[in-house]
Amino acid sequence: TTRQREQWSSQTGFILAAIGSAVGLGNIWRFPGVAYENGGGAFLIPYLFALLTAGIPILFLDYAIGHRFRGTAPLAFRRLHKNTEVVGWFQIILSFVISVYYAAVIAWALSYFVFSFDLRWAPDSLNFFVGDYLQVGDPEISTQIVSGVAIPLVVVWVAILVTLALGVAKGVEKANMIFLPLLVVAFIGLVIRAVTLPGAADGLNALFTPDWSELFNPAVWIAAYAQIFFSLSIAFGIMITYSSYQRRKANMTSSGLVVGFANSSFEILAGIGVFATLGFLAWDQSTTVGELEGLSGPILSFVTFPAVIAEMPGGSFFGLVFFASLVMAGFTSIISILQGVSGAVQDKFGFGVRQSAVGVSLVCAVISIALFSTTSGLIALDTVDQWANNIGIVLSAIVMTVLLVWVLRRGEELRFHLNAVSTFKIGRWWILLIGVLAPLLLGYMLLQRIITLLTEGYEGYPDWYLLTFGWGAIAFIVVVALILTALPWRAHRDEEGFEPW
Ligand code: PHE
Ligand code: NA
Repeated sequence: TTRQREQWSSQTGFILAAIGSAVGLGNIWRFPGVAYENGGGAFLIPYLFALLTAGIPILFLDYAIGHRFRGTAPLAFRRLHKNTEVVGWFQIILSFVISVYYAAVIAWALSYFVFSFDLRWAPDSLNFFVGDYLQVGDPEISTQIVSGVAIPLVVVWVAILVTLALGVAKGVEKANMIFLPLLVVAFIGLVIRAVTLPGAADGLNALFTPDWSELFNPAVWIAAYAQIFFSLSIAFGIMITYSSYQRRKANMTSSGLVVGFANSSFEILAGIGVFATLGFLAWDQSTTVGELEGLSGPILSFVTFPAVIAEMPGGSFFGLVFFASLVMAGFTSIISILQGVSGAVQDKFGFGVRQSAVGVSLVCAVISIALFSTTSGLIALDTVDQWANNIGIVLSAIVMTVLLVWVLRRGEELRFHLNAVSTFKIGRWWILLIGVLAPLLLGYMLLQRIITLLTEGYEGYPDWYLLTFGWGAIAFIVVVALILTALPWRAHRDEEGFEPW
């Protein structure tokens, strides 16, 4: 028994949801810092190269699989070949792991939205964030829950549960219809304000002045590829899931180009906004942007940024809009991650939309709160993020491309499929990119990364800690994926009659 598959209500709905998934915390708190650390203006070259040679081609691959085989990753991979279901589950469990910490960052942003009403804490933002708010302790497994984090985290999970329970069209699509336009307006407002602050030009110079020598540094290229993967939400099974809800006649590749370029534009816009603001901070402290500290990751948004708004006329309002933007960008991304998980549970076990939304959200919420709202939450988050993004996702992309092009030899079939439904036609170059160039580059990246993590560790955290939260997270993903693959199918049991589109 298989019920009718859910659908987006329109092509625009799909594009908005796909952009909503792509544009997330990665654009706002990840990109500006990564670009700055990796050659500034010169970083844009490897970044664009990665977008065109791997980002968009693998996005097309995700779209092709989801649309042609009309399933979340496990079902689509099982329809491709009866023995490849586990690849789909690997992607789904990887998404699940990301969702439990990504939600925590959204919860922080929600808190900071509230804190922006009264900025008295902001001049001492570092101590406030690490001490008063997160109450960070040692790298250990703490069971001491910090209520200031746990409460907004519960709010975030309730919102996710409700959205998923409303279904693809009425929940996920609607949420994007509301939040994405709001986000664009809010963010453009922020950027305009930022570039008109005194010192803004120096900030932009700091970001965009190219350090050409960095182009010869392999680490910079690795950073560019990692940023593109995370940023476009590819190889997580998410875009497979989203395209499985498309109608038969859907212009896939053109949508892909829109999504890819919208995401990168948003990223560069965020870079401009953030660095213009930092230029102002440097001006205010009579120093240069190069001398400032804390220009990346969570510190940039939750420590450096508040320090700036504390000094700014109208800072409170600026803070409200900034943290609201983070919440909206993060929310439209996390619902895409969880739709992948919830959809997969529906596809395999035959649960209804609501049952599965409630079940998945509850399990994730409990794990998310237990691990990331305690005094060891920040350190756990940093570690899991490092492994999920630099090992998990890269591994997933290599396995997926090699499997499709070389093992199953379905590259041409998928290319014909995309061309049959889309106006932007792709040539054989696509197979070369996803079958040869991407796996080679990604394989090299992965090896480098594994060697570095094994020999140098990470951030000086103890080995047992990295074994548990870093390598342990990867092992967890593999084991759970194998278990889920081994369980019997309760829906889509008889796939004999399945006809790919
Ligand atoms: N693409 C999102 C961002 O840039 C993050 C994300 C990763 C979303 C993985 C879904 C899956 O923040
Ligand atoms: Na992104």
